[in-house]
Amino acid sequence: MAGKEKLRVELCMGSSCFARGNAGILMSLEEFVEQNGLSDRVDLEGHLCLGKCNSGPHMTIGDKEYSGISDPDAVADIIRKALEE
Ligand code: FES
Repeated sequence: MAGKEKLRVELCMGSSCFARGNAGILMSLEEFVEQNGLSDRVDLEGHLCLGKCNSGPHMTIGDKEYSGISDPDAVADIIRKALEE
């Protein structure tokens, strides 16, 4: 684990993704990172509108893009899998 690069997780904080529920996603992300002591493995960042509002909320992990994330609980699974890769 040591020496591994941090997983870069970016969540779109644009107004459309916000209206589609990214605040819940963000809370769930922060909770997951905290509860699992992953703050040294996960870099959580917000970014501006990606111009893909119709399919939001958007999140990227590394170079993988996820859209239409409507279930905050699913986020934990996505991160968990990404950390295992
Ligand atoms: S607000 Fe997220 S893609 Fe536009």
